[in-house]
Order: sequence, then C-alpha cells, then structure tokens
Amino acid sequence: MGARGFFITLEGADGCGKSTQVALLEAALVARGCEVVRLREPGGTPLSERVRGLLLDPANAEMVPECELLLYEASRAQLTRQVIEPALARGAVVLCDRYYDSTYAYQAGGRGLDEALVRRANELGSCGRVPDRTLVLDLDPATAFARATAGGADRMEAEGLAFQERVRAAYLRLAAEEPERVRVVDASGEKDEVAARLLAACADLWDLWG
Ligand code: TYD
Repeated sequence: MGARGFFITLEGADGCGKSTQVALLEAALVARGCEVVRLREPGGTPLSERVRGLLLDPANAEMVPECELLLYEASRAQLTRQVIEPALARGAVVLCDRYYDSTYAYQAGGRGLDEALVRRANELGSCGRVPDRTLVLDLDPATAFARATAGGADRMEAEGLAFQERVRAAYLRLAAEEPERVRVVDASGEKDEVAARLLAACADLWDLWG
C-alpha cells in the first residue's frame, strides 16, 4: 500500500445498482489490505445527513432548483473537509457513492440549470477536490428506473423516466469530456461480473499502489 490515498467515486442514474457495487468494491479493497472509507452523498457527517433528509423528503416538493443545488453543495463541502480530506491525508482509499458529477448530471442535465454555474458551484462544494477515478454505472434507463421506484419514489426519483434519461446523457457527456478520470462501466449482468468490470476500470490505480 502506497503512502497516498485514493479518491474513487461511483456514479449513475437511480437504480443502476451502485449501492451493491460500492459494497463489493469495498470488500475487494479491504482484502488487498487497504483502509477503506466508504461514504455516500448526500450524507456522511451528522450535518450532511440532516441536509440529505431535506433533499430527499417528498414533502419538500416546493424546493426550487437553486435551493437544491446549494443544499447538495453544502452537504458536500462539510463531508469533504470533515471526512474526505483527513482520510486521504492518512493514506486511506475513499470510496464515495456519488460526488460532484451527480450534481452535473442531475442539476445541470436533469433540471436544466446552467452548466457553467453548476461547475462553479461544484468547485466550491468539493473544496477543489477532484476524484482520482469516477466510475459511471450505465444501465438502460427504463430498467434502472423501474428498479429504483419498485419500493416507492423519493423526491428525485419522482421526477420520472425522462429526467433519468437526461441524467444518463449528462454522465455520458462527462465521460467523453474527461476520459482519463471518468469511465463508463456496463452495469448489466450478474453483480460479480459488474464488480470485476469496475475493478478492471481502476487497474492502473492499483498498479500505482504496487
Ligand atoms: P439515494 O437514495 O442515495 O440514491 P442512490 O442510491 O441512487 O444514490 O438518493 C440520492 C439522490 O440524490 C439521487 O436521486 C441522486 C440525487 N443527487 C442529486 O440530484 N445531486 C447530487 O449532487 C447528489 C449527490 C445526488
């Protein structure tokens, strides 16, 4: 294990199977002897979890897109300074279920907020921290959406399938723009197959660890 930590984020539209895959990736890294800090956004600190409650509560249907953007960024800034930066500084691997690319995909892609503005907001919310690798789990939007909403929809999922299609398109644009950092991984098939694809998409990072 090298002296520096790595920051890996997982992304994808609702219902792409991210939570299962984050857990599998964590297990694989722990088996290699890494200290892994697993987080999810929004959330991960007491304050950020309270903001998460506001963001996902279907009762907050009146929330305007600008308020939504700023709440995601507020939650992120707290998580970054309080948890992510210290973990990376001591050489841990930080695995984060969503980070600022979600804001690009959902608030710019899904909601239609101005892209340049969302990028600036992301710089602030992330305190300038850039993931070393971002894995986008890609699944047919109709399948993913049906899976995500099978047990009821939160405030974001209530936006519907067309919204999720815009989210997916935004992720694919990001991957085309930043191919070194952002890798699209096919999320169809057995969960172990998907896990193997994710590990392979980080192979160059594992090599750096030696
Ligand atoms: P969550 O239940 O954690 O969904 P998932 O398991 O799919 O990650 O809810 C997070 C929701 O918040 C999800 O619909 C994506 C959305 N989101 C944004 O719209 N912008 C963001 O910046 C982040 C981090 C999440």
